[in-house]
Amino acid sequence: MKRIATALGVALMALATIQCGGGGDTATEADTIKIGAYLSLTGLTATFGVSTRHGVEMAVDEINAAGGINGRTIEIYFEDTQSKPEEAPSAVNKLIAAHNVSAIIGEIASSRTLAAAPIAQASGVPMVTPGSTNPQVTEVGDYIFRVCYIDPFQGEVLAKFIANSLGATRVAVLRDVKNDYSVGLAQYFTETFESLGGEIVANQAYSEGDADFKAQLTAIRGTDPEVIFVPGYYTESALIVKQARELNLNMPIVGGDGWDSSKLLEIGGDAMENTYFTNHYAADDTTAVVQQFVARYAERFDQSTPDAMAVLGYDAAKILFDAIRRAGSDDRTAIRDALAQTRDFPGVAGVTTIDENRNAKKSAVIIQVKDGALRYYETVNPD
Ligand code: PHE
Repeated sequence: MKRIATALGVALMALATIQCGGGGDTATEADTIKIGAYLSLTGLTATFGVSTRHGVEMAVDEINAAGGINGRTIEIYFEDTQSKPEEAPSAVNKLIAAHNVSAIIGEIASSRTLAAAPIAQASGVPMVTPGSTNPQVTEVGDYIFRVCYIDPFQGEVLAKFIANSLGATRVAVLRDVKNDYSVGLAQYFTETFESLGGEIVANQAYSEGDADFKAQLTAIRGTDPEVIFVPGYYTESALIVKQARELNLNMPIVGGDGWDSSKLLEIGGDAMENTYFTNHYAADDTTAVVQQFVARYAERFDQSTPDAMAVLGYDAAKILFDAIRRAGSDDRTAIRDALAQTRDFPGVAGVTTIDENRNAKKSAVIIQVKDGALRYYETVNPD
């Protein structure tokens, strides 16, 4: 009798194993919720991905230490886009096909999110980008969300800052024509700046990966601008500032959130004095929620200071977890619906409400580079 029972038990276990191999739930799978993140962990903008990963890891460890979501542990999978738009679709395909994730975090760069979002949309997998600010990103479809402001707002903030705080009327623009974010931000900036009576005296272009900007900067010098606007990523932008100073272009140079990286001052050095950029948060913001995060991050990651991507990665993960908790399951459509209902979620980089276009309306901060450090300059709230 005992032997028969044992044989039956073994047979049942074998059956369970077969079902598991066929994609069914095992005891352990039912205990976890799988989340994917595709990020630039290597390549030209590696700090975007590495910082975001740090923030996401902090959020995952926190929620799991607190017992998970409705008793289930979060299991996170990371895929590297190598900072290339053409790698983003396969990263997202892998998260869905190989890891069967319930939701996806990423990317940071708008061009990369735009390349991969159609796959998430077609597969019905909710995607939350922590930092892609180009308006087209969420227009891909109703599964695509963001937890940051969009570039029409960022462009307006920059135009008003340059016109009013810097008092400039003649601005030269140098943008990355391979980068949807850069092209869009240059356009939105120009629209507001011209509506304020300003003049774009030069409109120059470069391509991601370029290292020599002397020809564009020489052309810009000939137009005698009061300010140069460089809406690009930190790798090229810091080199542009350096080469501008070498050509005696000593006026203020202004950028957008794409400048934010621990590498900015490393690459640009002293040339970065008298520059400003818009951002999502300032590490020297004295509010308790920011200072607590900065302290916990430094403790965990080798005394480093979190940049905006670390903070937005953390906030994006927390917002996603909150939606999964409210959805009450890891069903992709239920998570999508709950994400769309996000209201007044308190994060480190401000409060997030997802609007009917799956965007967030949030404040921008302006950072000034002064005495070799990034300093909080002012906050601009959306109206
Ligand atoms: N906003 C940038 C984009 O859309 C990405 C970015 C976000 C970079 C935040 C740095 C910090 O491409």
